[in-house]
Amino acid sequence: MSEIYTLSNKNGDNIELLLRQGTAGPSALEISPLYNNKGLLAFDPGFVSTASCESSITYIDGDQGILRYRGYPIEQLAAKSNFLEVAYLLIHGELPTRDQLSKFENIIIHHTMIKETMRNFFNGFHYNAHPMAVMIGVVGSMSAFYHDSIDIHDPKHREVSAHRLIAKMPTIAAACYKHSVSEPIMYPQNDLDYCGNFLHMMFSTPCEPFIPSKLAIEAMNLLFILHADHEQNASTSTVRMAGSSGANPFACIAAGIASLWGPAHGGANEAVLKMLKEIGDVSNIDKYIARAKDKNDSFRLMGFGHRVYRNFDPRATIIRNMCHKVLKETSDGNNPMFELALKLEEVALKDQYFIERKLYPNVDFYSGIIYRALNIPTNMFTVMFAIARTVGWVAHWMEMIADPSQRIGRPRQLYTGSVERNYVPMNKR
Ligand code: ACO
Repeated sequence: MSEIYTLSNKNGDNIELLLRQGTAGPSALEISPLYNNKGLLAFDPGFVSTASCESSITYIDGDQGILRYRGYPIEQLAAKSNFLEVAYLLIHGELPTRDQLSKFENIIIHHTMIKETMRNFFNGFHYNAHPMAVMIGVVGSMSAFYHDSIDIHDPKHREVSAHRLIAKMPTIAAACYKHSVSEPIMYPQNDLDYCGNFLHMMFSTPCEPFIPSKLAIEAMNLLFILHADHEQNASTSTVRMAGSSGANPFACIAAGIASLWGPAHGGANEAVLKMLKEIGDVSNIDKYIARAKDKNDSFRLMGFGHRVYRNFDPRATIIRNMCHKVLKETSDGNNPMFELALKLEEVALKDQYFIERKLYPNVDFYSGIIYRALNIPTNMFTVMFAIARTVGWVAHWMEMIADPSQRIGRPRQLYTGSVERNYVPMNKR
């Protein structure tokens, strides 16, 4: 159902715009005729009120704190599913049958190895390079390896690229870590599941296998499910924008990783841990809350606030519970950093500044604490996010390319530079 919405100026000049309805969420004014009919542009820095595309993958209601993948509430998926089943759901739109899931798992397992020559790339990076920097480079380099599947208009080629990305991302991520600690890069092992395999590649050595606990695998699955997609966030929009020109999918995902790295986005989980370390003790909380509120201070409470959620981030609630469970097993519940995080959350949620601005803990406020308890180093936190979000990026890229009405993304601007002026010769400046 769509209706007509009329915009008029004070001179009585009207334009009729189509008001498009989705299946849920706010309607969207179709503003494309604004320029053709009236020579006007829409101005919306940060895309606060702009729907950049149609999508049927993920739904968020930021006021109600709702997140659904393909219609399924995140709480149900977090409690009952696992990461590869969620990956299948996001990409194909439906939950798999037992047979479909087992075929999908088998395909992913058999794509986990990276080319032997690709392993050489890691040695080109200095040992203290940030793993996200290495990851951007190595994932981008995948575009130089897989020439058998570069026709993005062939659905089979798209699917093969998606499988390769989902399967190889943990292998590349673990290799980034191994390089940083000067340990041999481990090969994947086909008898392990997705999360168990990743933990093996992270922590096994050729001398000693690492056997992850059941809870570590459960926690990893949960975190990967919660991070798998989040509709048109900065990194997903970056992947879509890069892909809209018909670019190679591996290069597009590398662009998404670059966008994710920023502290306002996926880099926040790393920033939260750094912040908690800096605060150090509950006695310093008030001082840091005051700094977060001070407009002359660039300090922000990391892991707080979200562009879309103006209510609790449903992912934060789920992670908080898992945090308790993991810390109970790994440190008998005695974890000063978690206690500090809980206290910080409590103080901020009672503070007028945070209440008025509807700033609540987001997904990354607690994810880093779990990763730390699982011995994942702080500089790998955003890499973990990238492994999971690859599924969302791939699903959105596939949806976009399959859309027959897809066009290159090309925003306009409100020009505020000099009007025309004449070139001034050097001796007259
Ligand atoms: N600490 C202190 N003040 C904050 C915070 C914060 N974490 N977040 C927002 N504010 C304040 C802003 O200063 C602003 O105040 P004002 O209205 O008085 O100027 C108001 O709240 C609105 O904030 P904006 O920056 O306009 O909100 P926006 O939607 O653009 O930004 C963002 C959202 C980037 C997530 C922001 O809240 C932030 O920087 N949070 C910390 C970083 C973080 O945790 N990022 C992870 C996001 S989740 C994810 O990507 C996985």
